[in-house]
Amino acid sequence: MEQVIEVQALRREYVRQTRLFRSGKKVVKAVDGISFSVARGEIFGLLGQNGAGKTTTIKMLTTLLAPSSGECRVLGYRSFGEEKKIRPRINFIFGGEMGVYRRLSARDNLHYFSNLYLLSRAEQAKRIDAILKLVDLADRADDLAETYSKGMIQRLQIARGLINNPEILFMDEPTVGLDPLGARMLRDIIRRLREEGRTVLLTTHYLAEAEELCDRMVIINRGKLVAGGTPAQIKGDCATLEDAYVRLIEEDKP
Ligand SMILES: Nc1ncnc2c1ncn2[C@@H]1O[C@H](COP(=O)(O)OP(=O)(O)O)[C@@H](O)[C@H]1O
Ligand SMILES: [Mg+2]
Repeated sequence: MEQVIEVQALRREYVRQTRLFRSGKKVVKAVDGISFSVARGEIFGLLGQNGAGKTTTIKMLTTLLAPSSGECRVLGYRSFGEEKKIRPRINFIFGGEMGVYRRLSARDNLHYFSNLYLLSRAEQAKRIDAILKLVDLADRADDLAETYSKGMIQRLQIARGLINNPEILFMDEPTVGLDPLGARMLRDIIRRLREEGRTVLLTTHYLAEAEELCDRMVIINRGKLVAGGTPAQIKGDCATLEDAYVRLIEEDKP
């Protein structure tokens, strides 16, 4: 099986200025030596409490942030140093971000973003039609985005993330703030991406969602890995994944 993401002993520290003393500095170990890999075609979950280090990990994988140490490979290339090889072949959506233009329609948004990738007009139109259908926005494609529900905006963000036909899509909290129907629709779309052979790495706080959606996952806490495997493996003898999660986090208290 081809491993499209390989993370080995990955670390990232932030130096934070303390407020009290101007010269004071505190080193935050945001990601503290995690290792995991993701196979092509998997839906892979990154779970953990607020501040666990999920977003920092995704930022390193998507070439936006340099690791302090360790290995971070995407599609066989180093995410820092060989990022030009990776960027055309991946895309990412950070939850809660306003990454689309409200005064444009879904279709015009997608035309705008696809201009950043060198596609012919005909190719653009064809791909955009297919993506609009995939994210269930075809019937509203020509209405302004400002008339969309939160769920529709979120689906438009995904559409934007698909414009370069990425092999791997990274999603940081894709269903945050969505109502149950909106979240379910989004999960359906994520499964459609897997059917197309894409790999999806996502973070979520919703354990039922992770259980339903993810082929495999890791749980990180305070920058370190506390569990990894299929939902069933992590659940073990606990009744629910949530029970297992709570137990793992409690046991890891400093
Ligand atoms: N730019 C930054 N500067 C200093 N500390 C940061 C920065 N970004 C994140 N952190 C800290 O790193 C830790 C991990 O944050 P983050 O990766 O955003 O976690 P998560 O996405 O799991 O909530 C937290 O303690 C957070 O406060
Ligand atoms: Mg985060």
